[in-house]
Amino acid sequence: MSNWQHGFYKLSTEERRARLSAARHLSTADQQLLSDGSSTLGNQLVENYLTDYRLPEGVGLNLLVNGQEYQVPMAVEEPSVIAAASNGAQRVARSGGFQAARQERALVGQVVLVPADGETDSELAWLRDHRDDLLRVANEAHPSMKRRGGGAKDVRFRTPGHFISVDLSIDVCQAMGANSVNTMAEAVGHWLTDHGFNVLTAILSNYATESLQTVECRVDFVNLATAKMAGEKVARRMAQLSDLAQVDPYRAATHNKGIMNGIDAVMVASGNDWRAIEAGAHAYAVKDGQYRGLSTWQIDGDQLIGRLTLPLPVGVVGGSIGLNPLTKANYRISGIETAEELAAVTASVGLAQNLAAVRALASSGIQAGHMKLQYRSLAVSVGATADEVPQVTKKLAKLDHVDRSVAKQVLSEIRKD
Ligand code: HMG
Repeated sequence: MSNWQHGFYKLSTEERRARLSAARHLSTADQQLLSDGSSTLGNQLVENYLTDYRLPEGVGLNLLVNGQEYQVPMAVEEPSVIAAASNGAQRVARSGGFQAARQERALVGQVVLVPADGETDSELAWLRDHRDDLLRVANEAHPSMKRRGGGAKDVRFRTPGHFISVDLSIDVCQAMGANSVNTMAEAVGHWLTDHGFNVLTAILSNYATESLQTVECRVDFVNLATAKMAGEKVARRMAQLSDLAQVDPYRAATHNKGIMNGIDAVMVASGNDWRAIEAGAHAYAVKDGQYRGLSTWQIDGDQLIGRLTLPLPVGVVGGSIGLNPLTKANYRISGIETAEELAAVTASVGLAQNLAAVRALASSGIQAGHMKLQYRSLAVSVGATADEVPQVTKKLAKLDHVDRSVAKQVLSEIRKD
């Protein structure tokens, strides 16, 4: 290991950048880039801080959820995601909007024990006899949660493999709550150790099956039509694509990626832990042993019905939410005030996103719409200036085949002209 890394974390941000620049022979331009993007807040949030890595933020439009209209900030680097979310949401709004059930919200704090040989049943019996103590210990570790009306409400016992899992069901009120749950689970773990149990770990589970959010929509065929395909045909092909995602994990993974395009973007812009949401979503997608699409699309009369259920243990306080002024501004833009509302809106964005992608796949294919919007990033990637980008994208849109080398050629032709 190179010696310059030792104690790197103890340096100031400027010293870190200087040390790294010397070791990695960074150009003056790269050094300037790092220093220009640096912020005081960033240095307070992560370790070995160098600079802020920025994502573009846009706003998803036309979202009608439980009769209320929302404009939702979305942070994502991929072209066409925000356009697709707005497009899908508009089609749903024209047919009455999304219906999102009110979410039951609890996190699971897992305390895992390794029972002594042949003692699983007796240890389980002891645990069942002491369930009130387990809840008391958990709540004493975080009394403010209980004062706010939340806290540990229930405890269940499972036996995955040869382990015993003590699953605390914890209401974290409006918070993301990971730290609180870990504190409570660890307190229970210590208490069980003191009572002679072999505790392997105590930690929040991201498989948040007690924070499931369901959203539904009904879309009239007419709102699915394209210039070249009738709405009914699009709807029937979308339903087939949905069936495919239920039986083929290769397709299901891409189907779910489309849903997470929207969900992750809302999670980032609302300051939530999108890695936790991703982990929970994919675990839920394989809940019955086969990985499946998280949403389904089915024909009912002259409508296409969409349904999406996934764990959304989101928060509107805690984590970095209160620290980042842009995150706070994003809540003012969306008008979202509660965790329940955020979960309902986020799931709706996911289903809108899925609708737009699956509709495109069922009709003209993804490239027609998606690539049109990719042209701008393609133009930038081959070196087009802000003035040249519109000219390059206009020319690319007229071509049948577009790739990097074509974009380079188009740019050089424009420059010659
Ligand atoms: P279009 O048919 O050209 O849209 O769609 P339109 O001109 O009919 O406009 C309708 C509405 O769409 C607009 O309403 C906007 O809300 C929105 P209006 O303003 O006219 O009242 N809209 C836009 N919003 C912002 N910027 C734009 C824009 N264009 C339309 N430029 C579109 C074009 C790309 C939206 C459509 O073709 C589409 O939704 N395609 C799907 C794109 C997609 O899913 N992209 C994600 C990346 S691909 C991927 O990662 C996932 C995937 O693999 C998942 C899967 O396989 O399931 C596809």
